[in-house]
Amino acid sequence: MDVFGSSQSVNEVNAEGLAVAVFKDERADSGLLKTLDTASGGMISDVMKSEEFAGKEGETAYFHLSAKNMKARRLLLVGCGDRDSYKSAQVTQLGGTVARFLRSKNVKTIAIVPRANDDAERVAQMVVVGSIMGLFEPDKYRTKDKEKRELKSVTVVIDGADKKAVQRGAERGRIIGESINFTRDMANEPGAYMTPTIMADRAKQVAKEFGLSFDALDQKQMEKLGMGSLLGVARGSDEPPKLIVLKYQPSRFRGKKDELLALVGKGVTFDSGGISLKPGENMELMKYDMTGAATVIGTMRAIAQLKPSIPVLGVAPCTENLPSGKATKPGDILKAMTGKTIEVINTDAEGRLILADAIAYAKKLGATRIIDMATLTGAVSIALGDVNTAILGTDQELIDEVIASGVEVGEKFWQLPLDAEYTKQIKSDIADIKNIGGKKAGTITAAAFLKEFSEETPWAHLDIAGTAWGDPATPYRAKGPTGVAVRTLIEFIERSAG
Ligand code: BES
Ligand code: ZN
Ligand code: ZN
Repeated sequence: MDVFGSSQSVNEVNAEGLAVAVFKDERADSGLLKTLDTASGGMISDVMKSEEFAGKEGETAYFHLSAKNMKARRLLLVGCGDRDSYKSAQVTQLGGTVARFLRSKNVKTIAIVPRANDDAERVAQMVVVGSIMGLFEPDKYRTKDKEKRELKSVTVVIDGADKKAVQRGAERGRIIGESINFTRDMANEPGAYMTPTIMADRAKQVAKEFGLSFDALDQKQMEKLGMGSLLGVARGSDEPPKLIVLKYQPSRFRGKKDELLALVGKGVTFDSGGISLKPGENMELMKYDMTGAATVIGTMRAIAQLKPSIPVLGVAPCTENLPSGKATKPGDILKAMTGKTIEVINTDAEGRLILADAIAYAKKLGATRIIDMATLTGAVSIALGDVNTAILGTDQELIDEVIASGVEVGEKFWQLPLDAEYTKQIKSDIADIKNIGGKKAGTITAAAFLKEFSEETPWAHLDIAGTAWGDPATPYRAKGPTGVAVRTLIEFIERSAG
């Protein structure tokens, strides 16, 4: 699909379908709506008079046009509610709603008028990100009744704006949207089709296509490095574990010389719970337990194309978590790369075990700031549902920057506390620490465990277990993997680069 940016007026736009954001309490007798009302022979004032459409958030009105002074043959009005609450998230959702709606009507070329002009480049970017995200379908393996309709192009129209800025935003949006969908596609793959080896192959392809350095540690190398925590999780599986390492090195380096931001993502390609086996209900969803790793790879994919002026390291520990005669058992002790010993109380708390060695390895590779992301705890859904991603960490400035980056692109993060007291819950009677902290504050004690490995390196942790999977579908997004955090991390990195 092609994306374009345009600063033409709606009459000039060359697309089959025209979609326009409409705010609550707008009237059909002035401004853009008047132009469209005239072009549609009074249909807009008609639906507004009859109270069929009032610009409320989520409302849509769809028309066939035959106006001579306009190229578009279809018109979609999308209600966007109050102008004051029309922010990044809503602009992005507009793109998704329009793309999904007009695709379902078999319209091939669409133009979207977002009606937010303050920062044309950014608005264009968000509309395109939303459109591309909206077009993602999880039904890859369906052979019948598949959504076969495809859009040929999306054009963002910001009347009177700097055309170059709109075009630049649209192109950036394409890179970001496609990278988000890349992450979603990986997250959606069944365990059998997304093993650690296959993940490493995908990361390698990305590195080759977009110009990143790539490495994947195998079991032998992990043994040499003493990664007993990661290997302890991998023991039960016949699939060999991989520790994927991607690096983006800018050609023009800005900022302090030895600074290195690392993204670390949990890559459990299937989490059965191991010997502490999960119940059968919803276990199929545990194919998405590698979303943290997919988020790292998807973000690196975008970064390689957007080329910010700071280096970024991506580290993704990948393994299955399965029960077998070789599997780690509750009560076993693992020795992590840092030398810390861990009593495994519950083999289902495996994410923190693989992240422990991955975070330590990122530090070994020179990371001076670390952001890890993981579908780490069921408890985070109890605390925050599917609305906010939990963020915790040791560096308030880093945390604040991630939250602010999220606000900028329309993703929500909510900080949970990480006081020293919580660490008491993971003290072990027979080893340095244990891998679960009891019933209370499950998301926090998981983070307290990771803190034992990030130590004094500024670190933030994103628990995406509640936000990485969207159910049910919405008008702007299919049910399934959401690609949460990719666009926030891209924004964060670009801000860090200045
Ligand atoms: N992968 C799960 C967390 C999860 C649950 C992700 C639901 C997405 C949806 C993680 O490995 C896990 O099993 N955590 C346990 C920890 C517990 C044993 C302390 C949990 O949350 O139940
Ligand atoms: Zn688990
Ligand atoms: Zn897990």
